[in-house]
Amino acid sequence: MTADDFKKMAALEAVKLVRPDMVLGLGTGSTAAHFVAALGEKTRDGLYVTAVPTSEDTARKAAAAGIEIIEPDETTIIDLAVDGTDEVDPRKQLIKGGGGALLREKIIASAAKRFVVIADASKKVAELGAFALPVEIDRFSFPLTVRAVREALAALGYQNPDVRLRAGPAGPAFLSDGGNFILDCKLTRIGDAAALDRALGAIPGVVETGLFIGIADEVILAGRGGIERIG
Ligand code: A5P
Repeated sequence: MTADDFKKMAALEAVKLVRPDMVLGLGTGSTAAHFVAALGEKTRDGLYVTAVPTSEDTARKAAAAGIEIIEPDETTIIDLAVDGTDEVDPRKQLIKGGGGALLREKIIASAAKRFVVIADASKKVAELGAFALPVEIDRFSFPLTVRAVREALAALGYQNPDVRLRAGPAGPAFLSDGGNFILDCKLTRIGDAAALDRALGAIPGVVETGLFIGIADEVILAGRGGIERIG
């Protein structure tokens, strides 16, 4: 089986948590896309739910799958959010944002009554940091924000971190759905993820970090050994 098969396996497990009339938060990325496809099948079989997508890409996929989309400003309730991750540690701490949708993903995941992470087992790590941490920043005077990010990282003891402005497919820089830049910060090992999240989040110009700390309620991992739950 491939990593994609395991992503689908985790998504199919998560879709079992969906109940009629739920308001769902739909994540972004290849694993979340399997969840959207499986949910689409269920709605075609008669299940009624509504959903808030975390990206334009997911909104297109959900609409194509026949899922009823509600605009984020039309609800104050998210019953269940389901999303993939780039890394997850044993404390259910995550690095997200590889696809650039971290801000909307974090808003929806944080607001959800229950946030379930789905992933293939390769995303499980002992310690976060091998995956470069995405940090979404405002475009205004962004070199000042980049400097402040480097200084904050140095103050926390990260030696010469590799901080790069993410390149876009159609231009010099990637733009998030909200029109912001993304910095990818290669830190190798993140000791205290909560402290790092606080320090970066305190910088004016930083919109959000890809660290999801204390947000995930359950993680569903699929791998050669079958399904593993961290809950
Ligand atoms: C999107 O911005 C990300 O947070 C994704 O959820 C994350 O990158 C996982 O993506 P895959 O499911 O494609 O691995």
